[in-house]
Amino acid sequence: MGEFVICGHVLNPASARHVTMARQVLHVGADGVIVASHAAGTAAATAVLDDAARRGVPVHELAPAQLLMPGFADLHVHAPQWPQMGRALDLPLREWLEQRTFPLEARFADPAFAAPVYEQMVTTLLANGTTTAVFFATIHEESSLTLARICLRHGLRAHVGLVAMDDPALCPADYRNPSIAQALAASSRFIHAVRALPGNENALVRPMVTPRFIPACTDGLLHGLGALAAAEGCMIQTHCSESDWEHDYVRQRMGVNDTVALDRFGLLRRGTVLAHSCFMTAEDMALVHARGAAIAHCPLSNAYFAGAVLPLRQAWQAGVHVGLGTDISGGYSPSVAVNAAMAVTAARMLDTGNDPALPAATRGRTDARLTFAEGLWLATRGGTDALGITAGQLAPGMAFDAIMVDRAAPGSNIMLPPAGDPDHTAEDIAQQILCNMGRPNIRTVWVAGRRVHGAETP
Ligand code: GUN
Ligand code: FE
Repeated sequence: MGEFVICGHVLNPASARHVTMARQVLHVGADGVIVASHAAGTAAATAVLDDAARRGVPVHELAPAQLLMPGFADLHVHAPQWPQMGRALDLPLREWLEQRTFPLEARFADPAFAAPVYEQMVTTLLANGTTTAVFFATIHEESSLTLARICLRHGLRAHVGLVAMDDPALCPADYRNPSIAQALAASSRFIHAVRALPGNENALVRPMVTPRFIPACTDGLLHGLGALAAAEGCMIQTHCSESDWEHDYVRQRMGVNDTVALDRFGLLRRGTVLAHSCFMTAEDMALVHARGAAIAHCPLSNAYFAGAVLPLRQAWQAGVHVGLGTDISGGYSPSVAVNAAMAVTAARMLDTGNDPALPAATRGRTDARLTFAEGLWLATRGGTDALGITAGQLAPGMAFDAIMVDRAAPGSNIMLPPAGDPDHTAEDIAQQILCNMGRPNIRTVWVAGRRVHGAETP
């Protein structure tokens, strides 16, 4: 992997509210970090091109209908639920876990079952433009380590969590940690094993402490995992205030909401990723903000299991980091773009309301809608920012985690302007990408400057 230069249109989420599109000359260093990005035609851009020519650095020129954009961050994926994607969504959360999901995840005790599933999942996520993924694996060390190895081999930036779940009240005998001590020892071994993987010197793949959710864990385990995360400086992920059933279960057992309980166990810290969080109160959000934790918003999954829409703008107003999660297989799509469009759609329905029996004026919740520019931000920099990763924008100093989108690819659903018309605005192109982009459009994908999917550009 050497340095290179790409000239072409760059779609960049400059801020949550503002997306830009311009022809740029982008210089990527041998370390996979963007050295410079200059407007095409300027003296600075010409100097980069001249210097590249003199030193024999490859220069790629994109076609007019092609563009570069940051890769997607998926903050919540259940890797072992890959075989169940697009199925079993007619059950409520608890029945879905007990009847379908725990039995499937139990099969990952066999690494030979896990390996081909994880291989296909990682390559499919990359093909959909995901460059950072945060995974729940299973309770099984060997197959979870296999997942980490596969991410590393394919170059996917990933956080991988060995799941911890020990409470016999919810977890079946064949799929739970037999004791607190066993679960903590396994999590500790897993953290060290991932960090020590050959080829992982730059920590492209990182471990995560992963209590499944409060209802699946005893108090002792939650307490031990909080201490382990602090001792190891390891990030944490869990499910939080997802559904009425889960939220009420925690309130009955703990007497407080998920956030307060997690905080008491030391599980709410900078870098903690809280999936869903639909039922958070303003106090919950203030606490999450104070701790610097993040929400993984999973709008497709929430339509089936949560029975509510996360008031995302309220979370933003409270200063909480928010990114997107596919929640495979609670969500049925491996595409962060599809989930970003769904986030915009769900926010619109929260804003306008959806029960036609109510008068329009009182049907919805004011100030809940999101723009597509905000959807693009959530899908990219919102996610990487939540994780503390220096990627998610195509700007100097950021890792070159990027997608080359070909809007004119054969089989594309993205409509270009009629011949002779000016090109669409940056906002419209962002919207088209979230609403209409498919795999044919995702021509090349890079993580940290390494090509991880597709053809060499152009
Ligand atoms: N809560 C605990 N486990 C799960 C899971 O696998 N998916 C979802 N959506 N919620 C959960
Ligand atoms: Fe989940």
